[in-house]
Amino acid sequence: MLKFKEVKNHPQVLEFIRQTEISMDALGYTEHGLRHANLVSRRAQMMAKEIGLSKRGQEISAIAGFCHDMGNFLGRSRHHYWGALLFHQIFSTKGGFTSGGEENFSSKELSHIMQAIVNHDKYTMKLTNPISAIVVIADKSDVNRSRVRDLSKNELKTDIHDRVNYAATKSDLKVNRQKKQIILTIKIDRKYVPIMEYFEIFTERMTYCRQAADFLGYKFNLIINNFKLL
Ligand SMILES: [Fe+2]
Ligand SMILES: [Fe+2]
Repeated sequence: MLKFKEVKNHPQVLEFIRQTEISMDALGYTEHGLRHANLVSRRAQMMAKEIGLSKRGQEISAIAGFCHDMGNFLGRSRHHYWGALLFHQIFSTKGGFTSGGEENFSSKELSHIMQAIVNHDKYTMKLTNPISAIVVIADKSDVNRSRVRDLSKNELKTDIHDRVNYAATKSDLKVNRQKKQIILTIKIDRKYVPIMEYFEIFTERMTYCRQAADFLGYKFNLIINNFKLL
């Protein structure tokens, strides 16, 4: 069975993420490269562990988190589908077996990873497995200053996504298993945005996080500048 470490170092996966970074940069989007992939995989693995998934479930969550955006280099609007299909293509060659004759992933694991990659940006889809729910929260919780590439003041004035990401100086995700809470804490520098602007663009994402947490049997809490908003 393949491990996260092997997927993470696969030359095609790495190149697709590199190309995604270049494509997103050309489109003027926030950062979607290795930093984002690493952070989402770390948060996915942490959540899987905290909510009590098996060791293998934790690996699968990290893998889905790492690969969720790698389809962006083939086009933004359907990147979730491209990503899932690319994942299948990369890891199902030779019938999905390693050179030693071992299976890369079980069919169920493969289906869950593919679903998680599609689900992360398909808000109309019903969640049907915990890996998908975990990747949604890990992905949507990445709001951070370091995702803004063009730091010119003009760009910050005109692009609300850049402005909100730039204003977020800290974001932290925690799971409280006893209280059944998944808590996202964000610090927003109000010099750059009023908190209402955050909601203008993140309401949909936070609603999706709430649905994902519900699926896991948890409550989603959002704390901004020490105020509990959800
Ligand atoms: Fe995405
Ligand atoms: Fe993402």
